[in-house]
Amino acid sequence: MKKTKLQELNKTIKDAFKEKDIVLGNGDENSTIILIGEAPGAKEVELKEPFVGQAGKHLTKFLEILKIDRKDLYITNTVKFRPTKDSAKTGKPINRAPSKDEINMFKDYLFDEIHIVNPKVIVTLGNVPLKTVLQNEGATIGELHGKDIEINLQEKEYYLFPLYHPAAVIYKQDLKETYENDLRNLSEFLDKLLTRV
Ligand code: URA
Repeated sequence: MKKTKLQELNKTIKDAFKEKDIVLGNGDENSTIILIGEAPGAKEVELKEPFVGQAGKHLTKFLEILKIDRKDLYITNTVKFRPTKDSAKTGKPINRAPSKDEINMFKDYLFDEIHIVNPKVIVTLGNVPLKTVLQNEGATIGELHGKDIEINLQEKEYYLFPLYHPAAVIYKQDLKETYENDLRNLSEFLDKLLTRV
């Protein structure tokens, strides 16, 4: 049922972005947790899977702290193609942050994807999915990281748990401790939530 609905949604996305290399969500569609990143990078486009490059390696390491196997999660991105610009140095395409227009193009697809998967907890990685899910440009990860927030999206209730993006932790070493703290908070939150139901 969920699988069929996701297949239909994915076909709609692919048809709408025929000229682009699209990386769709994947994993366990019956998971209680959906993990949402920003946009795929080069490796993700090559392998057609979210979080399989450098950021994915870090993500897997962090998931080990949570004692969660990534195959038990549903993982997707806000923007489903790789936003690039030409490097001034090499002239080759390099990653850039997705534009507001690009985020808006995918917003409804993301909301439909969440609705179909119907998780209990939405874990956003970084500012892009956080602002998108909250539909609030003013929301920041610096303010909201590491705690659970009850939200309503398309008439369904979820817990949102914002985390920093794993790539941010690679570049800013001082975030490492905060990030590990946030992961412990998430782990405790999940333990409580999942024993309650
Ligand atoms: N960063 C993201 O946000 N998503 C990916 O899939 C890979 C890197």
